[in-house]
Amino acid sequence: MTYIYYSHFRIVKTKDCIGFIGAGNIGGTVARLATEKGFKVVLSNRRGPESLSQIVKDLGALASAGTVEDATKCGIVVLSIPMGGYKTVPAQLLKGKVLVAPFSP
Ligand SMILES: NC(=O)c1ccc[n+]([C@@H]2O[C@H](COP(=O)([O-])OP(=O)(O)OC[C@H]3O[C@@H](n4cnc5c(N)ncnc54)[C@H](OP(=O)(O)O)[C@@H]3O)[C@@H](O)[C@H]2O)c1
Repeated sequence: MTYIYYSHFRIVKTKDCIGFIGAGNIGGTVARLATEKGFKVVLSNRRGPESLSQIVKDLGALASAGTVEDATKCGIVVLSIPMGGYKTVPAQLLKGKVLVAPFSP
């Protein structure tokens, strides 16, 4: 069982994967930190899973690539895309998920 510190006072216990919509500087870095802590990650981007083969290889066995929809099947989703792109993400797929959105304006 792995623990995620969620704000300063809650701890989320999870065996779930973490889905990434966006696998650039932020998504790639957080995914690396997550795999180092033993989380499974599912990476996605705009161009499709084939374009993520190198980063998946670098991250190792806990990482896989999928579509945006595949990433939203995880209980925790990191929305690490430029803020202007948020409307392209199907909001209904994020219902009930823990959503991490590291946007900076
Ligand atoms: N970099 C920083 O130091 C930093 C710090 C704080 C916050 N932030 C915020 O973090 C977010 C990500 O920044 P970043 O630097 O990681 O950007 P980045 O390196 O340009 O990566 C963006 C990623 O998002 C994907 N993407 C873009 N639009 C998408 C869409 N509509 N659907 C699915 N995937 C999409 C891109 O996929 P493709 O390659 O296929 O286009 C790429 O994988 C931004 O909101 C930024 O403001 C960044």
